[in-house]
Amino acid sequence: MGSYLPKKVLSNKDLEKMVETSDAWIIARTGMKERRLAEQGEYTSDMGYEAAKQALKDAKVHPHEVDLILFATITPDYVCPSTACLVQKRLGAKNAAAMDIQAACTGYLYGLSMAKAYVESLHCKTVLVVASEKLSSIVNYQDRNTCVLFGDGASACVVSYERCGYTINNVFLGADGEQAQLLVVPAGGSKQPASFETVQQGLHFLQMEGKEMFKYAIRKMEQAVKHCLHVAGITEKEVSWIVPHQANIRIIESLAKRLKIALDKVFITIHKYGNTSASSVGIALNELRKEKSMKMGAYILLSAFGAGLTWGAATLLYEGEEG
Ligand code: ACO
Repeated sequence: MGSYLPKKVLSNKDLEKMVETSDAWIIARTGMKERRLAEQGEYTSDMGYEAAKQALKDAKVHPHEVDLILFATITPDYVCPSTACLVQKRLGAKNAAAMDIQAACTGYLYGLSMAKAYVESLHCKTVLVVASEKLSSIVNYQDRNTCVLFGDGASACVVSYERCGYTINNVFLGADGEQAQLLVVPAGGSKQPASFETVQQGLHFLQMEGKEMFKYAIRKMEQAVKHCLHVAGITEKEVSWIVPHQANIRIIESLAKRLKIALDKVFITIHKYGNTSASSVGIALNELRKEKSMKMGAYILLSAFGAGLTWGAATLLYEGEEG
């Protein structure tokens, strides 16, 4: 695994100078204190590349061994070509196929699920999953409803049939396009291509109905987790750590309460990085691995929710680092 956070910090105090908000409101309503912002000239592919390089080094995999790169993002460098191809070139992963995944905050879990399927069906031996977001490129820093929530960052992991480490036990995914309007970037696609008017009206910025998203997030993550645990044949009590998508501390606390999982088993990075969409679960998982000692046989539960709507849950089984 690997992760990358840009150095530049945007604190709640900084946001107080930009919109009508307060450090106290942001902490109380979201749990966020700081988030990271990419430098000017630093793009989604650059951050993804850094996380991917770390993951390959960590897994002792040479770029030539990678058969497939799956790149989860809603903030690609370009509409075309894929950011996966840009990272393939930077890594020198000349034997890899490459494609982007668009599943918003559930991107890391969609990536894990696809990687698992490719590896288990023997279509690929080694898959590199990368999730990276430069959300600061689509956030309107005059809109207090959204600008306090998001940050930039990247995560990555290598999924392979042969090595040990963390086994992807199972992944459950879901989607509901009926609620697509709850979180949109209205312009820049084929429906409303960029024009003077779309720029003037701010239609290239992310727009969100936060309250509605909030309700769906808790409900759908709870359903996904319960289904995932049921299929895996494990109970909430057997879970050592839960690593949720870091969208709002109140969503995380509510989920933990519904699952009857103690908060000290929930790994939280939201205060430091805010919501980094597709990369958030991977960043938290990599930090958990570095900061906490993990017993052999420990189960880790991942859960995420995002635009689309999309949601998912996964169970990982720790089988020890490669000797
Ligand atoms: N500072 C101060 N006041 C604010 C701010 C702010 N930054 N933002 C909103 N407010 C105000 C509102 O204007 C509103 O004022 P009003 O009552 O006078 O109209 C009041 O605070 C309450 O607003 P709510 O929307 O009810 O605030 P809420 O407690 O619901 O929190 C939030 C808003 C944080 C957005 C929450 O709804 C949330 O986290 N939603 C879910 C987000 C989510 O699911 N994200 C995951 C997907 S992201 C992805 O896929 C990329």
